[in-house]
Amino acid sequence: MNIKEPSINKEQQDILDGLSAEQKFINPKYFYNHRGSKLFEKITQLDEYYPTRTELGILESQSKEIAKLISSDSIIIEPGAGNCTKIEYLLTDIHPNVYVPQDVSEEFLHKSAERLSECYPWLEVHPIVSDFSDPIVLPEIYQHFAKHVFYPGSTIGNFEPEDAIAFLKQMHQLVGNNGGILLGVDLHKDNEILHAAYNDEKGITAEFNLNTLNHINQILEADIDTNQFEHHALYNSQQQRIEMYLRSKAKQSYKILGNTITFERGELVHTEHSYKYTLDGIAELAKKSGFTLQKSWLDEEELFSVSYLSAN
Ligand code: SAH
Ligand code: AVI
Repeated sequence: MNIKEPSINKEQQDILDGLSAEQKFINPKYFYNHRGSKLFEKITQLDEYYPTRTELGILESQSKEIAKLISSDSIIIEPGAGNCTKIEYLLTDIHPNVYVPQDVSEEFLHKSAERLSECYPWLEVHPIVSDFSDPIVLPEIYQHFAKHVFYPGSTIGNFEPEDAIAFLKQMHQLVGNNGGILLGVDLHKDNEILHAAYNDEKGITAEFNLNTLNHINQILEADIDTNQFEHHALYNSQQQRIEMYLRSKAKQSYKILGNTITFERGELVHTEHSYKYTLDGIAELAKKSGFTLQKSWLDEEELFSVSYLSAN
């Protein structure tokens, strides 16, 4: 009798490929099941995690200036929208027709979009559940609006620089020649501030990082023991990036969908890069992806930037 190998879908295969690579890795999108999205929300409220409050300060103080660049007869698309909170700082001044939040974290996105719709009854909210590495397809009825992408939070920093350019080119195609992108990017800075932001005292970032194992366990029908891993994050100032890993506390093996995956004691599984940019670096990203950098706004301490890039 033939023993049938379990059939493996594309998502499972992609994760298994990452766990079988010389340098093991898990795509950072797997941080974000419902629990992961909640943990990220907790991270944004930590004293050490300056990016969210700093960016909100910029959006709040500059919303009128930003609104001068984005017409009200428009549609705003936000890839990786999460809790859809940041857009609220712009809605009153821009007053767009439609807001399209997009995310992989399905339940969290739908709840966030519902909350926004209730708070802003005049706004049409059209959530899309998909991976932002794939092209975003808008309903035909929205095609006549000027299109603007809102990409805050320095989520662009989670791409490798060449992938960030490919993503921005894709956004350029999406908005066409009359639109643009409002881009929030974290800036290169002192090692200590960055190290603390990804190694908070309460251990929420550690929980967020470890939760990725719960998420992939569910997808792979596996039982990888989260207690046998620990959070490890450092700032690589040469590469200008935070590197985040899960470190295996012991040698351990798992049989997953017919494959044996072994983690050596001390082995690192890469889970995220978070690149930090200089203003010159942001200008270069814009140029290489076909955008024109119109304006950048910074907080007083120059920790974080919000830039408007026009498509033409
Ligand atoms: N824009 C929000 C959330 C940023 S956190 C803010 O600035 O606070 C990153 C968000 O991107 C999460 O909500 C996560 O679920 C989503 N995300 C991560 N990888 C994704 C991918 N490949 N495709 C779509 N969404 C993704
Ligand atoms: C979503 N992204 C921009 C966050 C960041 O800072 O790179 C994710 C995160 N990872 C650890 N803490 C927060």
